[in-house]
Amino acid sequence: MDNPDTTGTAPWSDADVQARVEALLKTLSLAEKVGQLVQIGAADFVPGPKPDVVIRQGGAGSVLWLNDTKRFNALQKIAVEESPSKIPLLFALDVIHGYRTIFPVPLALAASWDPATIEGAQSVAAQEARAAGLHWTFAPMLDIARDARWGRIVEGAGEDPYLGAAVAAAQVRGFQGAYLGAPGRVVACAKHFAGYGASDGGRDYDPVYLSENQLRNVYFPPFRAAVDAGVGTFMSAYMDLNDVPATGNRWLLRDVLRGEWGFGGFVVSDAFAVGNLVTQGFARDARDAAQRALSAGLDVDMASSTYLDHLTGLIEDGTIPLEVLDDAVRTILAVKVRLGLFEQPYTDEGLLAEVIARPEHRAEARRAAQRSMVLLRNEGQLLPLSKSLKHITVIGSLANSKEATEGSWMVFGHVPAAVTMLEGLRAKLPDATIDYAPGPEINRDIPSWFESAMAGGSRAPQSPEDAESAYQAALATAQRADLIIMVLGEHANMSGEAASRASLDLPGRQEEVLKAVVALGKPVVLVLLNGRPLSINWAADHVPAILEAWEPGTEGGHAVADILFGDANPGGKLPVTFPRKGSHAPLYYARNTTHSPEESPLYNPRYWDGLPTPLYPFGYGLSYTTFALTNLAVSAPQVRVGDSASVTVDVTNTGAVAGDEVVQLYIHQRFGSDSRPMRELKGFERITLQPGETRPVSFALGPAELGYWSSHAGQWVQDATTIDLWVGSDSRATLHTQLVVTA
Ligand code: GLC
Repeated sequence: MDNPDTTGTAPWSDADVQARVEALLKTLSLAEKVGQLVQIGAADFVPGPKPDVVIRQGGAGSVLWLNDTKRFNALQKIAVEESPSKIPLLFALDVIHGYRTIFPVPLALAASWDPATIEGAQSVAAQEARAAGLHWTFAPMLDIARDARWGRIVEGAGEDPYLGAAVAAAQVRGFQGAYLGAPGRVVACAKHFAGYGASDGGRDYDPVYLSENQLRNVYFPPFRAAVDAGVGTFMSAYMDLNDVPATGNRWLLRDVLRGEWGFGGFVVSDAFAVGNLVTQGFARDARDAAQRALSAGLDVDMASSTYLDHLTGLIEDGTIPLEVLDDAVRTILAVKVRLGLFEQPYTDEGLLAEVIARPEHRAEARRAAQRSMVLLRNEGQLLPLSKSLKHITVIGSLANSKEATEGSWMVFGHVPAAVTMLEGLRAKLPDATIDYAPGPEINRDIPSWFESAMAGGSRAPQSPEDAESAYQAALATAQRADLIIMVLGEHANMSGEAASRASLDLPGRQEEVLKAVVALGKPVVLVLLNGRPLSINWAADHVPAILEAWEPGTEGGHAVADILFGDANPGGKLPVTFPRKGSHAPLYYARNTTHSPEESPLYNPRYWDGLPTPLYPFGYGLSYTTFALTNLAVSAPQVRVGDSASVTVDVTNTGAVAGDEVVQLYIHQRFGSDSRPMRELKGFERITLQPGETRPVSFALGPAELGYWSSHAGQWVQDATTIDLWVGSDSRATLHTQLVVTA
């Protein structure tokens, strides 16, 4: 079995690659160079000439929205044998959390707080995608999201830049392997650069206004980590950033990404975004859009054909220097050389079946799902459940939905095949009676275009009469059981792109059903399937056991059953704050204190109609065992600016079963050039401990952790100051010490 090279070195040296690229570049006409910067959409919804025609003319360098190995080879044959340049194509697709073996959605993977698990998941995704004939995935999505109303929060790693940076590097390593072009791997794409998650009101695509210090201290770190991990490509974000669209934003794409970070790959736009520079009121016309995008550092035009229509003329009349075009073409050719496409442009059409059948893929998906789940409540230790239970009722339409189990951002043409919650529970207890009642259906109030184009689409609306009979049937079924498992949350199309919402409540009549079932007085377990934080305020007070399962992927049903019946001990932690109301968003832990902090006698409530305290805080999650943290110590009581200290703590499993704890280190700078957040995550480690076992965990604290971009100074600084340090199992950590930093 040709396991991809994960430790080897690239067969090409950078000098070899560059020499090869220069030799290729010399052979290209102007039109052929422009073609390399054109990415053509192969889906039916894309207007304009068909891929075969454009490719044969040398008008495209890459293809997206196609998922068919035979078609890949057919189009590649046209490029390699019939186009003027004979240069092979790149095939790209959104492989966000699995190709055929679907892993938990990225927000769930982040909840594992386990870079090795995340890297492993994306490695499997890469192997399957490459076997299908794909070379390039539009992932990882690295947008920090602090507003749970934003639908695309599901695709990222949540609200924190430190966790987000660790997740970014792990995903890039998983997708790309030991080097760009490694066999069985794909080229990754850090997206959407930058600030997309901060759109006003969490409304997808809306403009973003962020200060430079917010960008540099919060939104940039995951992208910088991706560059440092060797990511091959970037994607510009759709929206205006401080009134300049990211797709035409020279400061972002040239000054920061290339000038400061030294990124050597290429930048692709988001879908139709080059052409939409006109729509957004930035470019005068398509020609102006082409000129300003390429000049700003945007290399590849995704699907808008603006480059195809205008770049040749812009070069010929001298508006754009030929060198600017050549520099962009060099970066695309370099990726094709590194992928070995000139030696092997085609895909073995029998490979995919072998790769997706590897049993370890589903085993890895099941383990990743187990490790991503977060135990939110377990009053009276109701969980884990006994396997001698005889009669269970499962309620909720999500409980038997393959789409809801696999979640948003399914790969083009993928047919969900997940093990649902109901199937997983029945497999776990084959001798028990496990009844099922869907209860009233849930649907978006307003559909999106994506529902027609991608799996997870909306269901036929349910009449009030049908909903009522489904409600009654659910209660009747619940009456017969010893225990009820409610599976509630959101459908796959209720988060993701064009899936923002104003409320964070359980959609539809789900909470009504939950209340009625709880009123029966039987034990109730709530399993959440969702792509964003939900304001499950009533459940948090009245349902004894609550498991956040997110959208757990192909093996989701087995993984939930593993946890509910104790074959796996939950150890996940929330990568994002759960607000009590949608209107409290954006809500996040790493915010600055004020002159009227909560501990002040002069404290004034932030809202008089209810305090915006989180329902569940960042970093929170329970286990079936308990842990104690002791002996917090710092290697020195003070260090000089620029030096490092080591922070250590002992972690003990004080319970009766083995389990994982995610030990978290938070800092607060008491004074300095700028006001800094009350708490910031600056270290974490997930460790497994046997009952009674104690292990030390240590973290380094130095300029990388203590420095920041100062709004006041307009540059990176590290202050001489006093740092509060807390170590604990979530962002409310209380075990405290301090570190003095001297000039
Ligand atoms: C979409 C998304 C982007 C995706 C691209 C290609 O609209 O914004 O994340 O990679 O188009 O499908």
